[in-house]
Amino acid sequence: AFAAGVPLVLEDVPRRPAAERAEQLADPGFGRYFTDSMVVARYRAGEGWHDARLTRYAPLQLDPSAAALHYAQSIFEGLKAYAQPDGTVATFRPEANAARFARSATRLAMPPVPAESFLAAVDALVDADRDWVPTGPDQTLYIRPYMLAVEPFLGVRPAHEYLFIVIASPAGAYFPRGVQPVSVYLSEDYIRAAPGGTGDVKCAGNYAASLLAQEQALAAGCDQVVWLDATEKRYVEEMGGMNLFFVRGSGADAELITPELTGTLLPGITRESLITLARELGHTVTERRFDVEEWRSGVEDGSITETFACGTAAVITPVGQVRARTGDFTVGDGTPGPLTMALRSHLLDIQHGRTADAHGWLHQV
Ligand code: COI
Repeated sequence: AFAAGVPLVLEDVPRRPAAERAEQLADPGFGRYFTDSMVVARYRAGEGWHDARLTRYAPLQLDPSAAALHYAQSIFEGLKAYAQPDGTVATFRPEANAARFARSATRLAMPPVPAESFLAAVDALVDADRDWVPTGPDQTLYIRPYMLAVEPFLGVRPAHEYLFIVIASPAGAYFPRGVQPVSVYLSEDYIRAAPGGTGDVKCAGNYAASLLAQEQALAAGCDQVVWLDATEKRYVEEMGGMNLFFVRGSGADAELITPELTGTLLPGITRESLITLARELGHTVTERRFDVEEWRSGVEDGSITETFACGTAAVITPVGQVRARTGDFTVGDGTPGPLTMALRSHLLDIQHGRTADAHGWLHQV
């Protein structure tokens, strides 16, 4: 069931030809191909969630006045399903995505999808499209739950009608170059999020507002934009759509520092998982504000040895060159650092079922 008294209707979705699927799974890239099915549920004020179904992946019909198209009542999530060595499929911490999705909904005055409905929808899609879960090294099925306001109405107020949709896309590496350090550009012209804004939720508008700064980073010859805090333009917040970690020192005593969740950062599920894993490995992890000048001087005096970004899509990406108006610097020797790579393998081993899941993070589908 999708909710009490609301069945999740499983339609008999036609399968695309096996050869087409095999070709797409062989080299999936990221976000290019989509599975055979999707889940769609409707919401209407006064009626609640209804008409939940697993159906064929197909274009939506929207009224041109649908509210999301005008006022951006639109939120999303990202999580992955992993082929397990025993042939089963598991998702990673889907309850955490369900909880964040509900917080995002509340912030955008949208009706939260109950956690059990979110989880039922994700499970139904993964179960139906199990044959789309790739089995190559580090390949996954990326799952994209989202919600948008579809009420045909141009007045500015929370819409009365919504769609909750889950689609899925086979995924290889997010960055085509794989685990190579990215170069970053510190944005001084644009900010990602301001106190009291929407930076701590996953709404579509945050990503739209980031694109021009990312274009500026590319034009400056860098791979990614790094955001500073809106108020003092001193504290490092995020890289593109990913959280950041800084390594102070090296070896078993290395300390990790990650920007604290001040309300303008997205609380990443990968971020939280890595904090837990690093502490278990004996490292101190400190959540606090981290000044750009501390980054630069730490790199220059050798105390900051590694920097990496993390997120569901790209897992862990090392940061190499940093370009700032006040001068460039390079973290470490420009190759992926040892703690960066160790944490990356540890997390991937858990997700792909190669090592014990001591935290119960995997959810069997
Ligand atoms: C992430 O998983 O790190 C993301 O933010 C997803 C991105 C494709 C929007």
